[in-house]
Amino acid sequence: MLRTHTCGELTEKQVNKSTTLCGWLHARRDHGGMVFIDLRDRYGMTQIVFDKSCSGDFEKLRREDCIQVEGTVKKRKTGKELKGMKTGKIEIHAKKLIMLNESQTPPLEVDDRIIATDELRLQYRYLDLRRPIMQKQFQLRHKAAQATRDYLSKENFLEIETPLLVRETPEGARDYLVPSRVNPGKFYSLPQSPQLYKQTLMVSGFDRYFQLARCLRDEDLRTDRQPEFTQIDLEMSFGEQNDLFTILEGLVKHIVKKTINTDVKTPFKRLTHHESMEKYGNDKPDLRFGLPLIDVTTIAKSSSFEKFKLAERATLLCCPHTFNRKELDSLNERIQKEGVSGLGYAKNVKGKLETGIAKFFTPKQQKDLIKLAKSKDCDTLFFIADKPTRSLKAGGVLRNILGKKLKLIDNKVFEYCWITDFPLFEYNEDTQELEPAHHLFTMPKKDALKYLGTEPEKIIAQCYDLVLNGVELGSGSVRNHDSALQKKIMAVIGISTKDAEKKFGFLLEAMSYGGPPHLGIALGFDRLVTLLCGHNDIREVIAFPKNKKAESPMDGSPSKVSDEQLKTLHLRVNDED
Ligand code: AMO
Repeated sequence: MLRTHTCGELTEKQVNKSTTLCGWLHARRDHGGMVFIDLRDRYGMTQIVFDKSCSGDFEKLRREDCIQVEGTVKKRKTGKELKGMKTGKIEIHAKKLIMLNESQTPPLEVDDRIIATDELRLQYRYLDLRRPIMQKQFQLRHKAAQATRDYLSKENFLEIETPLLVRETPEGARDYLVPSRVNPGKFYSLPQSPQLYKQTLMVSGFDRYFQLARCLRDEDLRTDRQPEFTQIDLEMSFGEQNDLFTILEGLVKHIVKKTINTDVKTPFKRLTHHESMEKYGNDKPDLRFGLPLIDVTTIAKSSSFEKFKLAERATLLCCPHTFNRKELDSLNERIQKEGVSGLGYAKNVKGKLETGIAKFFTPKQQKDLIKLAKSKDCDTLFFIADKPTRSLKAGGVLRNILGKKLKLIDNKVFEYCWITDFPLFEYNEDTQELEPAHHLFTMPKKDALKYLGTEPEKIIAQCYDLVLNGVELGSGSVRNHDSALQKKIMAVIGISTKDAEKKFGFLLEAMSYGGPPHLGIALGFDRLVTLLCGHNDIREVIAFPKNKKAESPMDGSPSKVSDEQLKTLHLRVNDED
C-alpha cells in the first residue's frame, strides 16, 4: 500500500511514530513559511504541517490535489486540539511530499457546507461524492445491504439473480426496451421488477428467495423515483400474510439497528386501506402527527349550505391554529387543484363557530361538529365536500400541508405501518377502465369472490404496503396460484387468455405444474436508505442518478448512436420526432 494509515485513524497512541498518508487536499492555510493542510480520505481528515524541512514543493499545493505525505505524528498542544476531528489531538509534521496527481480547480466545493446546484452535482458527481457526508451515506447504504443479506440468509432466504433481459413486466410503468441483434425486429424489456421470475422460482421449490434487485422503469421522475433503482425483493412459499409481516419487521429492525443504531418497535401498526383513506385521506399516511379526517356528511347534509346538502361526502379537519385571510385563500387555492370545488372553514370561538361557513350551521350543529372534532378554542375547522374519494384525497393533501406548515412533524421519529386489504382493482380515470391495483397476480380475499361477476371494484385483495413517515417503502401480496381463478380475474379487466399467454404465459404454465401457495414483497432499498440518512430525495443515496429528464449530465446518456449500430440492430430513427 502507498500508505501506512488512513486519514481518520491516528491518535495520541501513535505520537512520535512515522506514518505515510494518502488523500486529497481539503483545505490549506499559509502561515509565513509554514503551510497547514487538512488531508482527506474516506475515513476522515488529518492536519499536516509543512515547513522547510520537508522535501517536495508544498507551496504549490492546491485544493483536491491527490498527494502522499510521509512524516511524524506529533501531539498538538493541550487546548489546541482540533475540535470535531477524530484525529484532532495530533498532527503530522511532514518530511516528504509526493504529488500523486494534481487537480484542476474543482467546479464545485468538496465541502458539506456549500452545496452546488443539482445539475452541477450530477455533472461532476465524482467530486460531489468526495464530500464527507456523501461518503457517510454510501457507507450507510453498504451497511444496510450487508444487514439485509445477513438477516435474510439467517432466515433461510437464498439470494438468486434473475435476468435483466426479459419479457415485458406487469408493473404498470413503461418498459425500457433493448433491441435484439440476432432476432431482427424483436426486443427484450429491462425488468421493472423480478416479479414473474421470483414467482417462477417458487414453482421450482426454492421456497425462500431474495435479491437486491435492480429495477428499471420508464416513468416520470419525482424525488422518490428514479428510472433505475434497487429493491429488496423477496418471495416465500407456504406462508401467510402474518408470517411475511413478522419477517419484514425483523428485517427492518435489523437494518435500522445496524445502520443508525436505533431500536425499532415491532409489530408495526396496521391499518386497512379503507381505514387509512377515511382517517388520513391517502394510502401512505404520515403517522408522525395527528390531524385525522372526520366524516361529517350527515351534519353537512342537514346544514343550510346548498353545496353541502348535495355532497356525497363531507370531510372535516380540525387544526389547532388560527389562520389569516391570506393563508386561508392560499390553502383554498391549493386544495382546489385536487379537483374539489373549495375549502370551507370556520373558527371555534369559545365553543361556537364563527366566520367562513359558520352561518350555515345551527347552534346545535355547531356544537355537534365541535364535539366530533374534539375541537378547542381558537381551532380552525376545515371542510371539504365532494364525491367521497375526491373529498378524502383532498383532505389528505390538506393534512400533509398543515402538518408541515405548522411544524407538527418531528424529523427524528420513524413511524412504520402496514396498509392492508387494498381493493383488487382500481378505476383508471384516463382509460376509464378497471386495472389491477397492485398487479395481476394478487390473490383476492376469499369472501370477496362473490363480487367477481357483478361488482369487481368491491373485491378486496390480499395485498399490503409498508409505509414509513408518509413514504411507500414497500409493496407486496399473497399471489394467486390458482390458474382457473386467475383466468376469471383477467377476464374482468379484459385480458383474454390469448393476451395473457403472450405476456406471461410461462408463469401461468409454470403454476399449472403444482405451483405452491406463495407470497412476497419488495422494499424500495433507495427509499429506505434515504429516510435513514434523513433525506427525502433518493438521488442522495444513488451513486450515479439521473436528472429530472432521465439524463446523466456526467456521461451524457442517453446519447445518439451511429447509423452503423442502428443498422446492426435493424433499427431506423425517425428524426422528425
Ligand atoms: P412496486 O412497484 O410497488 O412493487 O415496487 C416496490 C417498491 O419499490 C420502490 N419503487 C421505487 N423506488 C425508486 N424509484 C422508483 N421508480 C420506484 N418504483 C418503485 C417503492 C415501492 O414500494 N413486484 C412488486 C413487489 C411484489 O409484489 O413483490 C413491485 O415491484 O418503495
